[in-house]
Amino acid sequence: MAYKISVEKAKTSKLGEVDFSNLPFGKYFADHMFIADYYDGEWRDCRIVPFADFSLHPATSGIHYGQSLFEGMKAERDPDGNPILFRPLKNLERLNLSADRMAMPELPEEIFIDAIDQLLTLDKDWVPDTPDSSLYLRPFMFATEKAVGIKVAENYRFCIFSCPVGAYYSKPVKVFVQDTYVRAFPGGVGYAKAAGNYGGVMKPMREVQKLGYDQILWLDGIHHRYLQEIGTMNIFAIIDGVLVTPSLQQGTILDGVTRDSMIQLARSEGYTVEERDLPIDELLNAHKEGKLEDMFGTGTAATIAPIALFHYQGTDYTLPEVEKRTVSNKLKTRYFAIRAGKAEDVFNWVHHVPVDAYANI
Ligand SMILES: Cc1ncc(COP(=O)(O)O)c(C=O)c1O
Repeated sequence: MAYKISVEKAKTSKLGEVDFSNLPFGKYFADHMFIADYYDGEWRDCRIVPFADFSLHPATSGIHYGQSLFEGMKAERDPDGNPILFRPLKNLERLNLSADRMAMPELPEEIFIDAIDQLLTLDKDWVPDTPDSSLYLRPFMFATEKAVGIKVAENYRFCIFSCPVGAYYSKPVKVFVQDTYVRAFPGGVGYAKAAGNYGGVMKPMREVQKLGYDQILWLDGIHHRYLQEIGTMNIFAIIDGVLVTPSLQQGTILDGVTRDSMIQLARSEGYTVEERDLPIDELLNAHKEGKLEDMFGTGTAATIAPIALFHYQGTDYTLPEVEKRTVSNKLKTRYFAIRAGKAEDVFNWVHHVPVDAYANI
C-alpha cells in the first residue's frame, strides 16, 4: 500500500520565540508534527499538522494499560546546512521490536522515513547549528482504544514531534549503583522502549537525585550483581585497555543505537570490545588495582557522557579526569564528526533529508 501524507502548514512560526544560544532539553517544540492513526488493521490518515494538543477520550487505553512506546533520535545540519539524521532505520527497527513486545502494530519503513523527511524539510530552520545542539525527534505510539477492559487494543496513534535541544548533561555524570530496586528481568520488557519502563524508575531516580547523584546504574534483577545500564544510557567501562559493555543477551537492556555505534567505531579503531557480563565486583577490583581507566554512558539524548564517579554501598569511587580519557575522547570526536556529516561516513550511518525533493510541500 502506498501512503500519502497530507500537509497542513502552521500559519505562524514560533521559531522567533526560541533562544538558540540557550536550549534546555525538551522545552521548545517545532512548528509541525506528524500523525498517523491505526484502525481496521492499517495505518491511515497520515498527516503533518501544526504542533498542537491532542484531544483524548478519558478511557484511552494507552493511558490506562500502558500500550505505549517511544523513540528518540537527533537531526543535525550537514556542512551545507541541510538536515541529516543518524541511523534512523536503527530506531525504526527498535520501535518495531518494542511494538512487537507490547502487542502493538508494526510501523512500515515507508511511513517512518517519509514522515521524517517531510517534517524535517518543513521544520529545517528548527535544526540548530550551534555546537552540542540538535533537533531531537520524538516518535511515539500509544493505544487509542476508547474502552475500559484489559485487552490488546485495535486502535493506535503514531506521532512524531521535535524539540531543538542543547546538551543533556553539562558536566560528568555521578551515578548510583542501585542494588535494591530493579529495572528489568529476563522475560520482561527491559529491551523495549516501553513507556512503563520509565514510569517504574521515577521513584528510585528521585531518591538518588536527592542524595546528589544524577542517575542510577542498574544491576540485574536476579543476582543484583551484573551491570545493566544507566537511566537513559548504555554503559561502557574501559578496564586495562579493553572496552567492556554488558551483553544484550538477557533481554533486560535497551539495544542503544549509540552503544552499537561505539562498538563498531572502537573496533574499527583497533580497540578490543567485549560484550559480556560485567559484575560489580570486577569493577571494584579494577578500581582498586588502578585498572579502571574510564566509564561512560552512551545515548542519543546524552551522547557520550563521561562518568565522574559511581556510588556503591556507601562509597563513592572516583574515576580519572575526563581530559586523561584518551580512548573515549578520541571515539567521541569521531562519532560527532560522522553524525554531523564532517567525517567520512564509512559505516553508511548518515541519512540526508532530501529537502530538494520536498521543496514544494
Ligand atoms: C533505557 C535506555 N538505555 C539506553 C539508551 C540509549 O539508547 P540510544 O543510544 O539508542 O539512544 C536509552 C535511550 O534511548 C534508554 O532509554
